[in-house]
Amino acid sequence: MKAVKLKGSGEPRDVLTLSDIDKLPPPNGSNVVVHIRKRAVHPADYQTIRGFLPADVFAPGGIPGIDGVGVVEAIGPDVDPASEISVGTRVIVYHAHATWAERVAVPASSLMPVPDDIDDAVATQLATNGITAVMLLRAAEQETEGRKAPLLVTAASSGVSRSIIALGRLKGHEVIGLVRRDADAAGLAEQFDKVPVIGTDRANWPDAVKAAAGQPPVVAIDAIGGEMMPALLGLLTPGGTLVTYGALDGRPSPIHSGFVTAFELTIRGCSAMGWATRTPPEQRAADFAALFDLVRRAPHLFAGYREFALADVVEAIAAAEASPRRGATILVSP
Ligand SMILES: NC(=O)c1ccc[n+]([C@@H]2O[C@H](COP(=O)([O-])OP(=O)(O)OC[C@H]3O[C@@H](n4cnc5c(N)ncnc54)[C@H](OP(=O)(O)O)[C@@H]3O)[C@@H](O)[C@H]2O)c1
Repeated sequence: MKAVKLKGSGEPRDVLTLSDIDKLPPPNGSNVVVHIRKRAVHPADYQTIRGFLPADVFAPGGIPGIDGVGVVEAIGPDVDPASEISVGTRVIVYHAHATWAERVAVPASSLMPVPDDIDDAVATQLATNGITAVMLLRAAEQETEGRKAPLLVTAASSGVSRSIIALGRLKGHEVIGLVRRDADAAGLAEQFDKVPVIGTDRANWPDAVKAAAGQPPVVAIDAIGGEMMPALLGLLTPGGTLVTYGALDGRPSPIHSGFVTAFELTIRGCSAMGWATRTPPEQRAADFAALFDLVRRAPHLFAGYREFALADVVEAIAAAEASPRRGATILVSP
């Protein structure tokens, strides 16, 4: 079968090749083999390929990919017959390695059946990014302890942030979005009811946030890092929390400990891998149910994707990195 292989850190065109690899053996224990049809290209994928993130998020042997959507092809002898997982079930693979291959072996517990009315390309966007949005909103709600205070969301055009904003609005939260160019703000604001969107290329953008919020945010949810982290900490109410979940700006963040101390601020990291390994099965099912519901209410949020064959992985990564963002990038295989 075919798989994208990584031969070392570097530019995607120099280090990625489509290769023939051995067929997978029949699954043992509670594992299953899933025939993967679609998988998203994530910023963490190309950051890892370039060596900016630790490569051990990929499989030994260097096949990228952490999620996907496909059909169960074989099940191990210990898979619970009462579970929803059987041969032919269409599933989201939400916690895996090496999904940039035509087939992958994973524990049955890493799968979520996909309802018939959610197509593969949309389900692919829920696997990691949708779940990350649910997880981040839960973290924000824990920090606000029921207080109705605006949530500040950076990289607001990203797949994750658009789901955070949509889910947050459905739950009655005020949300303020930040994008890096004010010229892109109006287009995003049009997609959401009553969500101010502000470009951080405005000289006075922190003042614009304060004016839009009316009160200091209790929580900022940030995928950027770098210089954005101290700027966000400076906007929070005393005792507020910066939830960090990405490193789109790979530079270290200059944070003054005296400032964090004086205003009793918290910096909290959140990872979808942590969600996958620590969340009880009932909560995982409820979290995906919330996402399936979101897709039915707001299908336009997931409609603007582009698809590339596995063989065109280098072009796919270039498309995923293009700015401004124009929807998810998905690698497909027969
Ligand atoms: N912690 C976790 O478990 C987890 C899980 C999933 C994703 N993530 C992280 O979430 C973030 C978003 O992922 P995604 O797949 O939703 O992204 P995406 O849809 O590919 O969109 C990326 C967005 O980031 C913006 N961006 C890129 N570099 C930036 C920079 N230096 N400064 C400001 N904005 C920048 C882009 O803005 P333009 O539109 O202006 O180009 C674009 O809107 C990534 O950092 C990813 O690693 C984390």
